Amino acid sequence: MSTIQLPAGSPGARILGIGEYRPRRRVTNDELSQTMDTNDEWIRTRVGIRERRWADDDETVVEMSVAAGGKALAASGLSPEDVDLVVVASCSLPTQIPGAGPEVAHRLGIPRPGGYDVNAGCAGFCYALSAASDAIRAGSARHALVIGVEKLTDVVDMTDRSTAVIFADGAGAMVLGASDEPGVGPVVWGSDGDQRDAIAIPAPGQPDAGNLTMAGQAVYRWATTKLTETLQQAMDRAGVTAADIDVFAPHQANLRIIELMAKRLGLAESTVIARDVAQAGNTSSASVPLALSALLESGEAKSGDLALLLGYGAGLTFAGQVVRLP
Ligand SMILES: CC(C)(COP(=O)(O)OP(=O)(O)OC[C@H]1O[C@@H](n2cnc3c(N)ncnc32)[C@H](O)[C@@H]1OP(=O)(O)O)[C@@H](O)C(=O)NCCC(=O)NCCS
Repeated sequence: MSTIQLPAGSPGARILGIGEYRPRRRVTNDELSQTMDTNDEWIRTRVGIRERRWADDDETVVEMSVAAGGKALAASGLSPEDVDLVVVASCSLPTQIPGAGPEVAHRLGIPRPGGYDVNAGCAGFCYALSAASDAIRAGSARHALVIGVEKLTDVVDMTDRSTAVIFADGAGAMVLGASDEPGVGPVVWGSDGDQRDAIAIPAPGQPDAGNLTMAGQAVYRWATTKLTETLQQAMDRAGVTAADIDVFAPHQANLRIIELMAKRLGLAESTVIARDVAQAGNTSSASVPLALSALLESGEAKSGDLALLLGYGAGLTFAGQVVRLP
């Protein structure tokens, strides 16, 4: 009887390049307060958002993905032919089928890669990053493009102040490749499906159909009581301590949650904390790569830094890992 052969794979995967796309239109809190019953002070103190980006009609999920993916590819120094896996994380895809992965790959000139989408709510990017890293380690792919993208303005009721001031649009991307030294640590992921109704886009025929709804206080409680442990486990499994973390880049949902997590983890004074929510709003699957991209761009984070990532959201889902920045 013949045995099934497996490829040798690779000891690790590492990030080779990061790219981003932020929609052209900036929307300030003051602008929102002209059309709904809200104000700059409430938004800044409760959530930490100062402005966000809203995509125009031509800034589609695919266009934003192509822009961010193209920049990540350029930063990696690879050519499109080198990439054999494209994973797009999103919960605001315009169609159920076809998925965005194959189209984004085609637009970037990547010939016939594995291409699929991941929907794990706002944890989507960290789930996709782990799946791509594992594929490289297993030898199923040599180089992978992972994109987190959202056009949440398509699925938010723009007259509902409880969500319209929070959610926004954008895309972030990473190119991964095989490496002898691991640059993506083990993922710690999970889900609490008993809280599936806490964040949802209800199906047709249901109340609020098509509009993102969120039980904000319940999610806040869950995030601030359950997820510090996940972050600690992600560091433990990667064999690092809080003192080793140069950059903390959790999902950009609420500045208060970010600061609380950072405090509980006992991160060093010198650890750079991502606060991209202030200018990007909550961009769900796109928030972690967008935040990292901004920190690298500004010089606050540098090549070789160890970053602790965490995604969490609808499901409820969560995923965290330690990575080395390119
Ligand atoms: C959403 C969130 C910012 C809301 O903040 P909050 O402090 O919980 O606020 P609440 O929803 O309790 O609302 C408090 C009050 O502000 C009001 N309010 C809500 N949105 C408002 C707005 N945009 N402007 C002004 N007032 C607002 C509410 O009506 C309520 O008024 P009331 O006390 O008179 O009833 C916060 O709960 C949160 O960040 N949750 C976690 C979100 C998250 O992590 N998601 C993860 C995945 S996306």
